[in-house]
Amino acid sequence: MDIETGYSDEVTKGFLTWSIIWGLVAVLVGVLISFQLIFPQLNFPPFLTYGRLRPIHTNAAIFGWGIGSFMAMFYYITQRLTRSPIWSPGLARFQLWLFNLVIILAAVTLAMGFNQSKEYAELEWPVDILVVILWVIFAVNIFMTIMKRKEEQMYISLWYIIATLVGVAVLYLVNNASIPVSLSKSYSAFAGANDANVQWWYGHNAVAMVLTTPPLAIFYYFFPKTTGVPIYSHRMGIIAFWSLIFMYLWTGAHHLLWTPVPDWVQTLAMAFSLVLIAPSWASVFNGYFSMNGQWHQMRENFLVKFFIFGITFYGLQTLQGPAQAVRTFSAFIHYTDWVPGHVHMGALGWVSLILFAGIYYLVPRLYHTQLYSVKLANAHFWLAVIGQLIYSISMWIAGVQQAAMLHAVNPDGSLHYSFMETLTELYPYWHMRAGGGVIYLVSLFIFIFNIIKTVQSGSAGAAPVRATGAA
Ligand code: HEM
Ligand code: HEM
Repeated sequence: MDIETGYSDEVTKGFLTWSIIWGLVAVLVGVLISFQLIFPQLNFPPFLTYGRLRPIHTNAAIFGWGIGSFMAMFYYITQRLTRSPIWSPGLARFQLWLFNLVIILAAVTLAMGFNQSKEYAELEWPVDILVVILWVIFAVNIFMTIMKRKEEQMYISLWYIIATLVGVAVLYLVNNASIPVSLSKSYSAFAGANDANVQWWYGHNAVAMVLTTPPLAIFYYFFPKTTGVPIYSHRMGIIAFWSLIFMYLWTGAHHLLWTPVPDWVQTLAMAFSLVLIAPSWASVFNGYFSMNGQWHQMRENFLVKFFIFGITFYGLQTLQGPAQAVRTFSAFIHYTDWVPGHVHMGALGWVSLILFAGIYYLVPRLYHTQLYSVKLANAHFWLAVIGQLIYSISMWIAGVQQAAMLHAVNPDGSLHYSFMETLTELYPYWHMRAGGGVIYLVSLFIFIFNIIKTVQSGSAGAAPVRATGAA
């Protein structure tokens, strides 16, 4: 426990360290699988094939990097916003070890080919049970801290944290309901179209409760701290919060347009996806309007760039997403590389930029020092943005070409291109994506170097720094 603040930040440090390690693993595997698509000889059966490495990539990225950092920052933020120390630091430490155990078990079991065949819910039932224990421990610790709070007002970040804790629990329990037949195999409790519907209700709300609400909680807390001015409108934030949560839950079937799922379910998902633009953009505007009279900080404070670019990518993502949810648009881009382009603008441009910003803010404070190099942080920023843009833009163009080729028909109605022809045309774009991935990886190495040097320069006894450092 920090004597000066009375808060317990050891577990935040632990989660941050491990989330960065898992983030590196995720990006390394991401780069490897993007090369495997170009050079099939890079597949090493049975463990290191594309089919097994792809879920390792997504799990390490979303659960290891994403959720690991969220856990670190939720503990930090909750203590400050409630003005109460964490309810049980011991339980939080146990949670850190369980978290790492789960991620290791996930990687090993996925490499061995144990897989429920549900995207983002691949893990088999024994690992699922550990995940549930992990989440219950986390939720209880945060809820107890909130219940014993000394600050009456609940700042918006706390609402997003609560939504994440409740949302993930409900989604995970329902979608993973299954009947085990052995230690490594189970069958879903749902069948056919119902199974698909439940899976994508889960899948899209994983986007909501893991890739949207936690970065928003972090954004709303660290952004005003960084700029030194309050958020433009707390009230708008709260209204947007409740509408976002209400609307997201209906949108899952936009992943299942043109499938045997009932038509009205698809239409409902399409309609709710379109209206989601409003609460999503309320947060974007909240960010932009908070910069009134502060835009000079984009040049002067390197961290502001991370936040403003991050929230801008969120804005773009939440315009592109609803467009994709429209039946006619979906008919064109579904099953094409357009979708990984959408995913990675969100994952790299929105989620990761906000996480980097949070980490740059936190590490100097946690280790009572200054950031080692703002120049390196700027280099990290630009390389990350360039790498991400190369990835997303190349995939969007690839997706449009792929879709146009798949849909091209001769006057007699037969397909103009064979499937192989549509595939080989994608190679140049895959090279670009891999190149973008390598640039992103370099940016990550710079980030990690900067963080390690910062931690090394920290001395436990010194007073915490107040400023983040100018550009
Ligand atoms: C620059 C580093 C990265 C590279 C090169 C990369 C590469 C890839 C590739 C090649 C795929 C498979 C695409 C396909 O199925 O055609 C993929 C999927 C995915 N990646 Fe990454 N990735 C990177 C970073 C990340 C990060 C940091 C996250 C999350 C925070 C992430 C989340 C995902 C998700 C959710 C999918 C599944 C997409 C889908 O099903 O459409 N990736 N990635
Ligand atoms: C208003 C908000 C959003 C809407 C309506 C939306 C809509 C969609 C739609 C319709 C798809 C399916 C594309 C297809 O396969 O045809 C999709 C895929 C996806 N979106 Fe979004 N999106 C939104 C925001 C976001 C955000 C902020 C992220 C954060 C990273 C994100 C991550 C993903 C992922 C990971 C997938 C791939 C799922 C898969 O097939 O594996 N989306 N989105």
